[in-house]
This record gives sequence, C-alpha cells and structure tokens, in this order.
Amino acid sequence: MPEKKNILITGATGYVGRRLCQRLLDRGCYDLKLLVRNKRKVQTAVADKVEIVEGSTFDNEALGKAASGVDTAFYLIHSMGAKKDFRDLDKESADNFRNACIAAGVRRIIYLGGLGVKDSASTHLLSRIETGEILAHEPDRIEVTWLRAGAIIGSGSASFEIIRNLNQKLPVMITPKWVRTKTEPIGIDDVLSYLEASVEINQPQVLLVDIGAGKLSFEEMMAQAADEMGLKRYLIPVPVLSPRLSSYWLILFTPLPYSLVEALVAGLKSETVVQNANAFKYFPEIKPVSFREAVSQANIELQTNQVISRWCDSSGDTACDIKDFNDPAGAVLRDVRIVAYEHGERQQEVFQAACELGGPRGWSRYHLLWRIRGWIDKLSGGYGLNRGRRLHRELRLGDALDFWKVADIREGKRLLLLAQMRLPGRAWLEFDCQPDQLVQTAHFIPRGVLGRLYWYAVVPLHSLVFKDLAKTIVSESKKLRAQKK
Ligand SMILES: NC(=O)c1ccc[n+]([C@@H]2O[C@H](COP(=O)([O-])OP(=O)(O)OC[C@H]3O[C@@H](n4cnc5c(N)ncnc54)[C@H](OP(=O)(O)O)[C@@H]3O)[C@@H](O)[C@H]2O)c1
Repeated sequence: MPEKKNILITGATGYVGRRLCQRLLDRGCYDLKLLVRNKRKVQTAVADKVEIVEGSTFDNEALGKAASGVDTAFYLIHSMGAKKDFRDLDKESADNFRNACIAAGVRRIIYLGGLGVKDSASTHLLSRIETGEILAHEPDRIEVTWLRAGAIIGSGSASFEIIRNLNQKLPVMITPKWVRTKTEPIGIDDVLSYLEASVEINQPQVLLVDIGAGKLSFEEMMAQAADEMGLKRYLIPVPVLSPRLSSYWLILFTPLPYSLVEALVAGLKSETVVQNANAFKYFPEIKPVSFREAVSQANIELQTNQVISRWCDSSGDTACDIKDFNDPAGAVLRDVRIVAYEHGERQQEVFQAACELGGPRGWSRYHLLWRIRGWIDKLSGGYGLNRGRRLHRELRLGDALDFWKVADIREGKRLLLLAQMRLPGRAWLEFDCQPDQLVQTAHFIPRGVLGRLYWYAVVPLHSLVFKDLAKTIVSESKKLRAQKK
C-alpha cells in the first residue's frame, strides 16, 4: 500500500478548516496534522485521529514543528478580526508560513483567498491578495495552489447567515445600489472539493484558480434564497444609501458584527467574478452546484442539526478569543446562586439543561429582559442575541452562544461562558454542576469606576434574571430526567 501523504491544516478551528479536516478524515487517505492556537478547541473525535501542534503563525518554533515531515500544507488563516494593522499581520503570517514550509521541504501550499482584482479591491480583499502573493513569492522553492472564492454559501457561513436573516426578518427592504453588483458565490461543499483535489493535481509551480458557481447579484441571491425558503421578499434599491448606512442596517438584522459586515459590503461595491478558466481546466470533474442548491443544502443542515462550523467559531484576531479566559478566579464581583437537588440524582441532567440554554430556547422566564440586553448590545456594536447556537443541544469549546462564547466545558460538571457583549469589564457565567447542587456564578472584572457603576446599576436586574436562570435549569433537568426514564 502506498504511504499516506502528510497534510498540514492551519485554520482548522475556523469555518472552512473544520469542514476540510472532517472531509479529509472521512477520506482516510491522509495523515493529518493541525496547527491550532488552542488545542482544546479541536473536538475529541477529531483530536484522537490527528496530530496537533499548538501555536500560531507568529510562533516560528511551532511553525517549524507543524511543517516538519509535511507534503502539503493548507493555509486557511486571516487576521481580519484584529482591531488594526490586519494587513501587516496577514503579511507577516504568510511570510512566516512560507519560510517554515520551505525550510521543512513541504512540496505544496494550498491557499484559499478571495475573488476579485487588486484595482477595485476592498482593504480586506487586498490583504487576501497580498497574502497569496507572499505565499507564492518563491515559486522555484515551493509550489502554491491559490484558490480564490467569493461568497461561500453553507450552513453557518457569514454570507448565508446575512441572506437568511434578512429574508426571515424583512419582507420589504430599501437597499443600496450595490445589491445589483455581480459576484460569484459558491457552495461550501464545492470549495472543499477544490481544496481536496488540489492536493493531487499536476500543476505549474504557481496556479491561480478562480472558483464560483455562476454570476449573481446580491439582489438575485436574496430573491432565490427567499424562494427556497418559501418566502416572497421585495428589494427596493435606492441611490442614497451609503455603504456605511447599509452596514448599520445589516448589523441590526443579522448576527454579524460591524467589522465583518463592513468588509463584506465594501467587497460588494465592485464586481468580484471569476477571472480565469483554471477551475474547468485543472478540475474538470468538479461541477459546482448552483447558488440555489447550496442554499437548499445549507437549510437542510440547519434543520437536521448538522452544522459543523460557523462564521463565529474563530476570532481571526491575533490570539484565540477564549484561550486565556477560561479561569475567572481574578473576578472581584460575583453573583452566586445555589439551587440544591437530590444527592447524586441529577448532576448530568442539570449539566445538560445548562448546555441547552440560549438560541431558540431562550434564557428562562425573563427572556424578554435578555432580549432587551441583546438589543442594547447590538446597538452599541456587539453581537446581541442574534448568533444563536450551532446545534440545538450540544455545545463544544469555542461555540458562540448568543452573546457568549463557551470558554470551558467539562462533561457533566462545568460550563463556563465568556461574555462577548459590550461591557465595561470582563464577565463570565459559570455553571458548576455538583452531585447535589448547581452553583451558578456570574463573575465580573470591572474596568475602572465605570465598570463598578455598571455592575451595581444592574444588580436589581441580575437578582431577577440570575435567580430565575438557576431555578429554571434545575427544573428543566427534572424534565430531562423524566424523558430518560
Ligand atoms: N468564509 C468565507 O466566506 C470565505 C470566503 C472566501 C474566502 N475565504 C477564505 O478562506 C480562508 C479561511 O476562512 P474562514 O472563513 O474559514 O476563516 P475563520 O472561520 O475566521 O477561521 C480562521 C482560522 O484561522 C485561525 N487563525 C487566525 N490567525 C491565526 C494565526 N496567526 N495562527 C494560527 N491560526 C490562526 C483561527 O484560529 P482560532 O480558532 O484560534 O481563532 C481559525 O481557525 C481565508 O483565507 C478566507 O479569506 C473564506
């Protein structure tokens, strides 16, 4: 039997990377290595079958370890979530990665960037182009397959979530002119097929491949998706809506934060369509499904609770967003609620009930108050409650849950949620499921006087919502236990 190729996947905890990892594992023809910033974010089912190197592309030692013995390396990384200088960070990251791969004798780098040309590129797209140029800078020393995709359509993808949320929430929409600009979306499964096939193709030292499933405007995508969802929607383009105004509009009705929406809107100001025919030439066996089919597939995954990854899984920042925040011991302000139950009876069900909070199930009796808090967060530039949850019942480390992120999860024992809402300080909500009681603690590290003022101002609300939340979890656990019997 031929030896299995060693493949390195970076960005393996992100939207595309998680799915690629799953796809290659299912194939069973490769030995996989992952470079991740927080190894606990890799699910046990995956972690057991791969080699994991913990570190970032700014850590040359980790990069060296990751690249060693590798045949093909996927580069699925960006720094777009960094507050500033993301272009410089992206350049440094790509440069480090290419050098490490060359030093380790890697045969090929496969990179997925964005569709579009430099002249009319948004800052985000420009950075994606620069990244590709840096990776491909030494063609005589390493091969590069540079795939370029526009909007990726799949369950949990940013573009799909925008379209789905707008269609669900707004029957009529006043829209800016750019909704008529042509772009070329592609379904996530087809993106994975191109990535996978890139490992084996015969190609020149550097190959640029534009991938897409046909030209469509945002307006046409909205109409086709609405049709797929069984809805009738009306878009009325007007010339007066500026990109900034449309971004504000989008963040109100979709789960995405301003930074991401702004980048997506900026990208839609000019055409982003396929510029070369290399997809047909080098991958004739891949026939991308239409936008409509990709939407239908994404809807099926949502309905059948099979979402593998979402746009909010990673931070895209200079550091993993939860790695250093799984211990709230330094919190100076706390709200502790204890609810007892029969000894040894219900610990597992209490944990399960805590894990089912949020998303469509809401946050207990005072859900309206949580919603109001969500709206305040949205209006101040946060996520609000719109992110919902990935799966109905399960959580994994790094999952977004409304305006929280799962910062720690110990089966049957502990769930720790890190607040990602706009706050004058850092906050966590912890559920410690003990054999005979639930200890629920809201932890807060205030930032200055404002932080303390905030905490004391919300004490009356906390006493309502947190007390009720702990009680609800324990009473829900009764139902879960009854269902099991
Ligand atoms: N998603 C789309 O709609 C789309 C469309 C077109 C092209 N693309 C391209 O596809 C690629 C992957 O995008 P994505 O949507 O999957 O991104 P994503 O969900 O934001 O994931 C980014 C991944 O990169 C990791 N990461 C970030 N900086 C890192 C660093 N310095 N060192 C090591 N890991 C780092 C993150 O780790 P943590 O989990 O630790 O944060 C995460 O795993 C990008 O090049 C993007 O331009 C994406």
